Amino acid sequence: MKAVIRKIVGEELLQKWYHGYFRLKEKIQYTLIYPVLLRIPYAPNFYFLFSNSFSNEMKMFLGARRDYLKKQHHKSENLFLLRRNIHRIEKGLIMKNRRKVFALEYIEETVNLLKSLAKENPPNDQIQWAFDILQQYFEVTESAPKRDKAFHIFESLTPTFVSKGLFIPFSLPLTPAIEDNSFAALAKKRKSVRFFDTTIIPDRTIIDKAVLLAGLAPSSCNRQPFNFRIVDEPNLVKKMAVLPGGTRGFSDELVAMVAVVGQMNVSPSITDRHLMYVDASLAAMNFMLALESLGVASCPLNWPEDKRKDDAVRRLLSLETFERPIMMITYGYAAKDGKLAYSVRKPLDQLRKYN
Ligand SMILES: Cc1cc2nc3c(=O)[nH]c(=O)nc-3n(C[C@H](O)[C@H](O)[C@H](O)COP(=O)(O)O)c2cc1C
Repeated sequence: MKAVIRKIVGEELLQKWYHGYFRLKEKIQYTLIYPVLLRIPYAPNFYFLFSNSFSNEMKMFLGARRDYLKKQHHKSENLFLLRRNIHRIEKGLIMKNRRKVFALEYIEETVNLLKSLAKENPPNDQIQWAFDILQQYFEVTESAPKRDKAFHIFESLTPTFVSKGLFIPFSLPLTPAIEDNSFAALAKKRKSVRFFDTTIIPDRTIIDKAVLLAGLAPSSCNRQPFNFRIVDEPNLVKKMAVLPGGTRGFSDELVAMVAVVGQMNVSPSITDRHLMYVDASLAAMNFMLALESLGVASCPLNWPEDKRKDDAVRRLLSLETFERPIMMITYGYAAKDGKLAYSVRKPLDQLRKYN
C-alpha cells in the first residue's frame, strides 16, 4: 500500500505529508491534550491505562516487593535492610545532641537480622560493622524496654563476635583536600572512548579494583542497590555489544561490556523505586573514573526502556524480575589510532543557579 502511494504522489511529497501529520499531532498534544490531562486529577492514569509504557516498571516493583517481604518474613539474606538499619543507627550515634535512647522501632529487628545473617554467612566486614555499631549503641544508650529486649538477644551473640572497634564513627581526617588537584586532572582526562585495542582484554584484577572504588560511591542509607555484571568472555561480549543502539558503528571494536544492574528489591516502598537509578549512576561514575585512574578507557552506553532488549540481557545474564540494566559501560585499552569527540560542555551560568 505504502509503495503504491509512494509511486502515485512521489517520495518527496509523501515525506512532506508525513512530517506535516506528525507536527500537527504534536501541536494538538501540547496545546490541547496535555494541558487538560495535567489539570484533571487522575486523568494521566486513564491516558496510560491501555499503554504498556510503564508496565516493566510496575512488574519490577511488584517483583521487588515480593522478594523484599519474603526475605523479611524469613529473616534471611536481607543484607539491604541490615545495612539500612545499621546506617540509621550510626547516624544516630554521630548526632551532636544525641538522644539518650533511639532506634526503638527497629532495634530488635536489626539485632535479629544480624543474628540470622551471621549464622548464614562467613565472617565479613558488613557483619562486623553491624556488630561494632550495635555494640556502641548498647554502650551509650539508656535502658528502655525495647532496647533492653534487643540487648538481651545481642548479648547472646558476643561469644561469636569480638568488637574490633574498626567500623565505628570517626573524626574527619586532618587533610581534607586532595593533593595536587589530582581530581580535576582525572575528571578532565576521562573521555568516552569508543575504539579499543582488540588484542588486549584488561586484566580482571584491575577491573576488580575499579569495582571496589565504584562501591565507595554514596548510596541512599548505604543500601547499594546495584551490582556490576562484567562481561569479558568474547562470545558473550559480541552478543552484548550489539544490544545498545548507541554502539552502532563501533560495536565490533568492543572487548568488554558491563551491565550496571539496578536492584529494586532494596525497599518495599513504591516511593523508593528510583533509588536504584540514582545510586547505580553514582557508582557508575566512580567506576569510570577509577578505570581511567588505572589506565583503562571506557564509554557509558545508553540503555533506554526497551522490553525486548531488557529481556535479552535478562536472559544472557540471568537477571531476577526485580533487576534491570540501568546503563551499559564498555571498557578496554584505547586504540592508538582512535579519535575522541570533543563534546563541549555547558558554561557555568547554564550549569548552576544559586538560591
Ligand atoms: C548515560 C549515558 C549514556 C550514553 N550513551 C552513549 C551511547 O549509547 N553511545 C555512545 O557512543 N556514547 C554514549 N554516551 C557518551 C556520551 O556521548 C558522552 O559522555 C558525552 O558526549 C560527553 O563526552 P565525553 O564522555 O567524551 O566527555 C553516553 C553517556 C552517558 C552518561
